[in-house]
Amino acid sequence: MSVETDFKSRIQARPEHPNTWVFYDGEFVRYHDVKLGLMTHALHYGTGCFEGIRGYWNAQREQLFLLQAQAHFDRLRNSGKILRMELPYSTEELIEITLEVLRRNDHRGDTYVRPLLYKSIEQIGVQLHGLPESFLVYTAPFGKYVEIDGGIRCMVSSWRRVTDSSVPARAKITGSYVNSALAKSEAIEAGYDEAIVLTHEGHVSEGSAENLFMIKNGKAYTPPVTDDILEGVTRNLIIGLIQDELGMPVFERSIDRTELYTCDELLLCGTGAQISPVVEVDRRTVGDGKVGEVSQELQSLYFGAVRGDNPKYKDWSIPVF
Ligand SMILES: Cc1ncc(COP(=O)(O)O)c(C=O)c1O
Repeated sequence: MSVETDFKSRIQARPEHPNTWVFYDGEFVRYHDVKLGLMTHALHYGTGCFEGIRGYWNAQREQLFLLQAQAHFDRLRNSGKILRMELPYSTEELIEITLEVLRRNDHRGDTYVRPLLYKSIEQIGVQLHGLPESFLVYTAPFGKYVEIDGGIRCMVSSWRRVTDSSVPARAKITGSYVNSALAKSEAIEAGYDEAIVLTHEGHVSEGSAENLFMIKNGKAYTPPVTDDILEGVTRNLIIGLIQDELGMPVFERSIDRTELYTCDELLLCGTGAQISPVVEVDRRTVGDGKVGEVSQELQSLYFGAVRGDNPKYKDWSIPVF
């Protein structure tokens, strides 16, 4: 075996659909036609920000519903502002670009959309100001990110959440996902499904890539945006559903670690995770250890709304086709 072949055999990093359409620096092109320089700033220094948007397929109506596109692009604009980057398009244009990529790829199933704004200069040296930036959007088929049916088992991570005074969690920064990856791998390798991460002060912040809700005595609680969370789009939708559909008050306040052990129900939520009930934390059962009623009701309301089956929540999504 030649040395070259031996090196190649250890690499496994190609997408399933290299022929897929993407939007890259102002043009619709094929994934495999994009050439990204080895020195690209964001690749080395984590100087990018991104979004994850879901498209939900409704088989009966043969329609793909793009969920909360405006809220995601608004957040991307804010993440960019924190990183001294400006999106080169209006939100309306960004949505149009995304719809065009989705249509060209003719996705007929649940789909993930990944817009990325990043420092594209090919130069060594760390800074944010005065560097050129690039923007791309790619889309891919996407199923479950974490389990949503039987309830998941979590551990409180030994890693703490990045703070607003170091790497702001409010911005969805590529580099800060090292924090998420450390927590997630620790949890999986310790035999759990997911990690719950604390702030430096020791309050509950969020999951590795999900916001958190706790239900106790007929009230819902979620960490405030000042506890180093990503200000989740799904979190906002869930707050609305709990208040409007379940008539339950929602309190945005700091949560202690041990409240996770003594609450009635716990759930993680996010674009990827959707609504994932937690049935165990640090080997203590949550409630009676089964998926609770509130979580089940929320799942049924949420999936009805995101798949375009509830006219009341029509404005949550944009039909793609
Ligand atoms: C760290 C983190 N927190 C929370 C969320 C949930 O945010 P959203 O509901 O906007 O997807 C995500 C997912 O994107 C995330 O990565």
